[in-house]
Amino acid sequence: MSAETKPALTDEEKRARVKALLQSRRRPDAPKSPAPAQPTGTGLHDLPGVQELAARKAALAARRLPNPYFQPHDGVAGAHSVIAGRELINFASYNYLGWCGDDRVSAAARAAIDRHGTSASASRIASGERPLHRELEQALAAHYGTEDCVVFVSGHATNVTVIGHLLEPGDLILHDALIHNSALLGAQLSGARRLPFPHNDWAELDRLLTAHRAAHHRVLIIIEGVYSMDGDVPDLSQFIALKKKHDALLMVDEAHSLGVLGAHGGGIGEHCAVQPTDVDLWMGTLSKTLASCGGYICASHDVVEYLKYTAPGFLYSVGLAPPLAAAALCALQLTHENPDRVQALRERAGSLRTQFRAAGWKVGPGEHSAVVPLILGDPDRALHLAHALFTAGINVQPILPPAVEPNQARLRFFLSALHTPADISLTVRAVGAQLEQSH
Ligand SMILES: Cc1ncc(COP(=O)(O)O)c(C=O)c1O
Repeated sequence: MSAETKPALTDEEKRARVKALLQSRRRPDAPKSPAPAQPTGTGLHDLPGVQELAARKAALAARRLPNPYFQPHDGVAGAHSVIAGRELINFASYNYLGWCGDDRVSAAARAAIDRHGTSASASRIASGERPLHRELEQALAAHYGTEDCVVFVSGHATNVTVIGHLLEPGDLILHDALIHNSALLGAQLSGARRLPFPHNDWAELDRLLTAHRAAHHRVLIIIEGVYSMDGDVPDLSQFIALKKKHDALLMVDEAHSLGVLGAHGGGIGEHCAVQPTDVDLWMGTLSKTLASCGGYICASHDVVEYLKYTAPGFLYSVGLAPPLAAAALCALQLTHENPDRVQALRERAGSLRTQFRAAGWKVGPGEHSAVVPLILGDPDRALHLAHALFTAGINVQPILPPAVEPNQARLRFFLSALHTPADISLTVRAVGAQLEQSH
């Protein structure tokens, strides 16, 4: 049967796929853990993942270090944050331009609550539509220079539902090997064939397209504007050239590039000076620069209409909560009015990166993003350094395998435009002091 004549998945088949996905749970590219030694029962506590997690937590406890995860922040998590009553320099939040906690953004959210309450209380197609939804979508579409936009209640769910819905068996999805989990799950859900290409390697992507394009109907290439593990940026122009050469579609996830790249925080499109319409699907989240919660797709009007009337994660899910729409809209407007914030963010990130490198420490390959990974290799070293820095008044998250390769454990510093030069030099000194002590 040719790809064209292959029937779309039935609801039954889609449900079976979701079930299989939930059962597999793991990132498809993650190294497989060894099979449990004992045959397990059928209860939820017998799930191999439950046992694996217990083993990981026990290993952490054996190191005599406090659990670095689920630390509650007492106030706004910005450049600084209060944890357990102590103010720390905070490098663990995606509040890139400092709009979360900004009085104007909070006031916009409050005004939306006064007018609409806290929830849209229904799917937008039913009775959940509020004027703020279209205002936000129009502002995002204008930002990207696309015909239209649709916003979803979660960034993760946006990728799952949009990729899962637009692609189908007979199609091909080619994605960067370091693509976010949400895009992987969307690709799996779609039933399309999925092929990862080596990180940022457009030459290898070209080879894969040459070898496999003809055997598939639609082909979608998925990349990110900034990769959050390494903080590096792909060469978007090369990906656009390839999508044109091979008659493919291109989707760019701007989670960590909106508000960060480009002179005005326009994202990777501004950074690489490309035509907005050369990207078929501009995807992003409202939870980082835009100080809110949710996701968006900016695209042609037809595609956006199709998603609004048929994508399960939009159609069968509540509309974005009015205060969240108002916060994101206000944060987007503030981003446009304050390019100095974008510059400050990149200066601070550049300064941290340069000083780390000057000290001879290994930093990820990125240059322009607000993510600065300090690569330590050994997970124990990363855990101990994170703990020592926390004690010294600096909050930074350790990233351990399986999130990264076994010898690539790191501390990931997320910068904010509101970090001061003093925050940066204090941090460099503190890292230096701790690394010296541990030798
Ligand atoms: C690249 C990327 N895409 C999508 C998401 C999901 O966005 P959200 O956390 O807003 O649901 C994230 C979250 O970290 C991300 O890093």
